[in-house]
Amino acid sequence: MELDINGQTAVYGIIGYPVKHSKSPKFQTAAFSHLGINAVYLPFEVKPEDLKKAVEGIKSLSIKGFNITVPHKEEVIPFLDEVSQEVKYIGACNTVVNLDGYLKGYNTDAYGFIQGLKELMPDLEGKRYLVIGAGGSSRAVVYGLTKEGAEKIYIANRTVSRAERIAEDFKSLHRFAEEVIKPVSLGQVEELLDRVDVVVNTTSIGLRDEDEPLFDYSKLGKNHVVVDIIYRKTPLLKAAEEKGCLWQDGLPMLLYQGAKAFEIWTGRTPPVEVMRRALTEK
Ligand SMILES: NC(=O)c1ccc[n+]([C@@H]2O[C@H](COP(=O)([O-])OP(=O)(O)OC[C@H]3O[C@@H](n4cnc5c(N)ncnc54)[C@H](OP(=O)(O)O)[C@@H]3O)[C@@H](O)[C@H]2O)c1
Repeated sequence: MELDINGQTAVYGIIGYPVKHSKSPKFQTAAFSHLGINAVYLPFEVKPEDLKKAVEGIKSLSIKGFNITVPHKEEVIPFLDEVSQEVKYIGACNTVVNLDGYLKGYNTDAYGFIQGLKELMPDLEGKRYLVIGAGGSSRAVVYGLTKEGAEKIYIANRTVSRAERIAEDFKSLHRFAEEVIKPVSLGQVEELLDRVDVVVNTTSIGLRDEDEPLFDYSKLGKNHVVVDIIYRKTPLLKAAEEKGCLWQDGLPMLLYQGAKAFEIWTGRTPPVEVMRRALTEK
């Protein structure tokens, strides 16, 4: 890929700590290049104590837009001029556009998760979901599913109070949200499997094969749709594959959150297949 950088090249990027494993520079650059947009997308490693200065620097340097990853997604919010409704509910921001020094924050993780899931299951409405985990990414997943008209969303977490907090915070999302979202303990997962269509792991369990399993994965049924938002084939996904379930790892969510960010920054239709190829090529 040839880069033609000149005095008018726009700069985009991602801030995180660490950031060197991020796949976003590769697939965002592929999208700019494919559409002939004169822009680059760079990784910026920002220590937590430097976040405020980094955001001020982004304004001063007229960086056009940026993504935010761990551990800054929540902490960045007070430094922005405006945030979307998704950011207010989810409590985390992963995309910012710089409009002549006015920073507006979005959360495209919820959209990313939903678009990814629709590749497996086009109609999400009226389905029953078990979401394991109640951290930042779980909030985005539950927000998206609630908006899509889920019939039931069980949120199972080691620390049940975090799941209860999501249910409380999302009560006002629609008229029935309070009946839809049910916090439960991790110990209840196995007994709930018969009552759900889709199982989603949003915890960090499965990053390593030797992690203690979240539940007995052999209890999955072949009709379950199983999603793990970790970017690899985790033991949960291997068990789902063995059972013959439809399954998906975290790459589609990553792809579509990035595609949405690209659209917010440029106003252009993102070249999703170009981005997917850049993301998945070795
Ligand atoms: N595909 C994507 O685009 C995408 C986007 C965002 C994140 N992710 C991935 O999602 C994962 C979670 O990210 P996050 O930002 O939501 O993290 P987070 O806010 O730190 O939440 C971590 C979750 O994992 C649970 N957990 C951690 N250790 C556990 C253990 N030993 N046993 C049971 N539960 C445990 C936590 O439970 P407690 O509340 O009890 O501590 C919490 O629910 C990461 O692996 C990240 O890479 C993927």
